[in-house]
Amino acid sequence: MKMKNKIALVTGAALGFKNGGPSIGSAIAFKLADEGASVVVVDILENMGRKTAEIIREKGGKALFVKADAGNTEEVKQAVEFTKKEFGGLHCLINCAASYEGHIAKNVVEISEDDWQHTIDVNLNGYFRFAKYAIPLILESGGGTIVNISSCAAFKVLMNFSAYPVTKAAINALTRTLAVDFAPHIRSNAICPGFVRIANSEGERSPEELEQWIKGIARSYPMRRVCSVGEIANVALFLASDESSYINGECLAVDGGRMISDTHEF
Ligand SMILES: NC(=O)c1ccc[n+]([C@@H]2O[C@H](COP(=O)([O-])OP(=O)(O)OC[C@H]3O[C@@H](n4cnc5c(N)ncnc54)[C@H](O)[C@@H]3O)[C@@H](O)[C@H]2O)c1
Repeated sequence: MKMKNKIALVTGAALGFKNGGPSIGSAIAFKLADEGASVVVVDILENMGRKTAEIIREKGGKALFVKADAGNTEEVKQAVEFTKKEFGGLHCLINCAASYEGHIAKNVVEISEDDWQHTIDVNLNGYFRFAKYAIPLILESGGGTIVNISSCAAFKVLMNFSAYPVTKAAINALTRTLAVDFAPHIRSNAICPGFVRIANSEGERSPEELEQWIKGIARSYPMRRVCSVGEIANVALFLASDESSYINGECLAVDGGRMISDTHEF
């Protein structure tokens, strides 16, 4: 039990909102709970967020849901206060909540200022807000870990998807600044996934179209398949627990070798 007697707060931990399928945050919440952590599940989506906590409790774990918008300072503060009141402290913050609907997939000329600001405010400032208000409680609880879910988009960008990679590159810098300012009491690391199969990426595709789409993406990955949410959760557990006790400020690509490979073949 790598997280025995630990308390973790996971943002963006609702089950996939399309059909209750996989999401990275819920997979991390399940994994940390399986390893003995008491988990506070945070999301803007009430039904699917409650579901994550219910599933953990049904399996004999400890979990509570609290609704909070990462873009709202008061709600972030309340989520941290809720954690203190219900579980008595906090050892691990997993920042995972992000908003990336289709209409933000534009270049800087085409994206509206509102969409740009919203993306920065949730995806980057949301991580800042949770860190800002959770760190005092983590310190009060004897120290712990922060794991920021970033993306390979921090290193390599997609065309016409301008705001999202900017937030992820900044999250990597945020991770490093947290790592330097709060060590040795708190270790901060980031995970940079490549494409991960989640319920919400299914869009309006038929099951056949979905499989074809995923196969197409998999071709550009040396592993010849895409990542599962469980494979990200395993790394999150490692970085959240004492197993990674001397890793601090690392932004770890979990992309099956995609970032170090080229796509053309001889
Ligand atoms: N799926 C991928 O291919 C992939 C790749 C790289 C990085 N990521 C990152 O992984 C993280 C999790 O994403 P996912 O792929 O599981 O997608 P997802 O859409 O299933 O999960 C995102 C969650 O964040 C929640 N959320 C959105 N706005 C919020 C807000 N304002 N306040 C609180 N919660 C909010 C959503 O309701 C949702 O439950 C994100 O940070 C994403 O950028 C995903």
